[in-house]
Amino acid sequence: MVNTEVTLSGLMLSNPVIPASGTFGYGREFSELYDLDILGSFSFKGTTKEPRTGNQAPRIAETEGGMLNAVGLQNPGIHEVIDREIPFIREVFHKPVIANISGFSEEEYVYCCSLIDKVPEVGIIEVNISCPNVHNGGMSFGTDPKSAKRVTEAVKRVTTKPVYMKLTPNVTDIASIAKACEEGGADGISLINTLLAMRIDLKKRKPLLANRTGGLSGGAIFPVALRMVYDVYEAVKIPIIGMGGISSAEDVIEMMLAGATAVEIGAANLVDPYASRDIIRQLPFTMKKLGIDSLSEIIGGAHNG
Ligand SMILES: Cc1cc2nc3c(=O)[nH]c(=O)nc-3n(C[C@H](O)[C@H](O)[C@H](O)COP(=O)(O)O)c2cc1C
Repeated sequence: MVNTEVTLSGLMLSNPVIPASGTFGYGREFSELYDLDILGSFSFKGTTKEPRTGNQAPRIAETEGGMLNAVGLQNPGIHEVIDREIPFIREVFHKPVIANISGFSEEEYVYCCSLIDKVPEVGIIEVNISCPNVHNGGMSFGTDPKSAKRVTEAVKRVTTKPVYMKLTPNVTDIASIAKACEEGGADGISLINTLLAMRIDLKKRKPLLANRTGGLSGGAIFPVALRMVYDVYEAVKIPIIGMGGISSAEDVIEMMLAGATAVEIGAANLVDPYASRDIIRQLPFTMKKLGIDSLSEIIGGAHNG
């Protein structure tokens, strides 16, 4: 028997596979397809203080090896999430969930994080300072080390649970942002969010997305994400949740060798809703094939020598 357990800030996960924020809602739709308890955890949709309807359509575009989205943080707002979604999650998922929080000001992050910190079902707070699809907020906090550190400190002051800062790849030096978050007291780092991208409609000669630009995710970004996880692993001592284009058990292992303690699966859930389940099923076989007895032993394994 191989061992797929990993530990994130004292939280033991039966396996490192976590559906990524924005591709799994609050678990409702997926709970009709399979038993969510097989997951290591899941990260729920980016939640803000006020309800948001998101950006205008079209907000999804296909591209070779991936997809673009400009959803714009559509969500029912923190109060509705606590009153309606959390009780549902309690019914269908019997493990700690990851709460993904977004904001447009430091105060908003603080407001939402202090409320979600009191929810017993939440094991980790993932603070998204990296959304490319909203203006005046989101990504702007994650592109400057000083503001990334300031948001981290502010959130840490009002929380008791592990705080993971979710970083944007749309920077020249992601390691310096990760270090700033660590200095600010972050318990871990999640990376990467989507890469700023666009497509143009050939007939209309206009950007395909109503928002003009969107975030690229899926297989095409895997090598970029892997390089960034590798760089951040060298720069910080806190654990990393790695994501970006993961779609197989081999990808999970590659991401862990780069330095991730756990991984999130995003776009792959939208291509095939059973993707996360199937990766979890496949993991023990792939481990056996590669001679891996325990997943936790391979974290950062590509850095030796
Ligand atoms: C449709 C869609 C919505 C997303 N919404 C969020 C979100 O609300 N909060 C967040 O932190 N990341 C969000 N993301 C980013 C993913 O969580 C993930 O970081 C990114 O897509 C890279 O992983 P992937 O290539 O496996 O999709 C979203 C991604 C997609 C495709």
